[in-house]
Amino acid sequence: ACLVGSEMCIRDRHTIARLALGLADDMLTTLALATRAPILVAPAMNPAMWTHPATQAHVQMLQARGVEFIDPTYGVMACGDEGWGKIADTPTMIEVVERRLKRTQELAGIHVLVTAGPTYEPIDPVRFIGNRSSGKMGYAVAQAAAERGAEVTLISGPTALDPPAGVKCIRVQTAEQMLQAVQEHFEACDVFISVAAVADYRPERVYPLKRKRSQRAWTLRLVPNPDILGTVAPRKGHRLVVGFAAETGKAIEYAREKLQRKGLDLIAVNDVLEPQSGFEVDTTRLTLLYADGRVEPLPLLPKRIAAHRLMDAVVERLHILAGKSGVPDRSHLPDSLKSP
Ligand code: CTP
Repeated sequence: ACLVGSEMCIRDRHTIARLALGLADDMLTTLALATRAPILVAPAMNPAMWTHPATQAHVQMLQARGVEFIDPTYGVMACGDEGWGKIADTPTMIEVVERRLKRTQELAGIHVLVTAGPTYEPIDPVRFIGNRSSGKMGYAVAQAAAERGAEVTLISGPTALDPPAGVKCIRVQTAEQMLQAVQEHFEACDVFISVAAVADYRPERVYPLKRKRSQRAWTLRLVPNPDILGTVAPRKGHRLVVGFAAETGKAIEYAREKLQRKGLDLIAVNDVLEPQSGFEVDTTRLTLLYADGRVEPLPLLPKRIAAHRLMDAVVERLHILAGKSGVPDRSHLPDSLKSP
């Protein structure tokens, strides 16, 4: 792994831009172009600079090529500004580098199916019912699985995100289209991770032409959408099935009930009312609930790192499944997963 980091914000911003554009005008950027090793970047800069669209566009370009970022942490900068811009601490960096080196082929031979993003339920050709999901968590999960060598199929609702490198992406709009795509790919998968924020209801009637404005009230009748995870989970067989739950209020209690009702192996829950842990933002505080009753709270983490913590749990569950006697169809797994 090639670790890029410096404490000088202007230099870091410059370096990220040069890496993104493929410039090779010093030793570091030349090395980054020449190496086949995984590249990790640990930037530090003024929070406004880090969140600036120019910087984030370059970060996204690099991520799409498989470069991994150890995101800056929250704190007070040398210039006195406060925000997300402090370089990650050394133990975090060492942990990420170690994990990156270990995991490259951990899921080779495993097919992971992921749903992500919202669904849009049309009212007429210009209006729809949707939700605030950005797809960031689902895309991070797909990327994390691909980085561990899995064959990944991502079924995505409408998002502004580019699919992660090496991931097969199928784009859909509605819950019914997502269900159909999931049913087509579920048979072939070993792990299904349902991250999508599926719209629970859709308008009963879709107007073929744009409905014109009027001063009268307009009542829309909504009908329930299929529960995609609830439809396929009963047919899970040897597969590992993981759900997500974005909750408000009694988050753990609601998620435990969902885990049991939908027959899942694992559910990742977050409280969307908690600061920095909901829709649209780049961070999340997940709690993992296992079918055996275990509860694993994770700290507030960048979604990319949280996705890898979830994949750690997935790898552990696959080891356990593979180790159980009488579990069918595990013979195709790589040696690393044949025994616990
Ligand atoms: N899910 C799904 N299809 C739906 C609704 C949810 O596949 N129509 C999946 C989500 O991808 C997630 C899990 O089910 O993995 C839980 O989703 P969530 O929206 O939290 O729960 P619901 O089942 O919709 O229940 P509620 O909205 O009452 O909390």
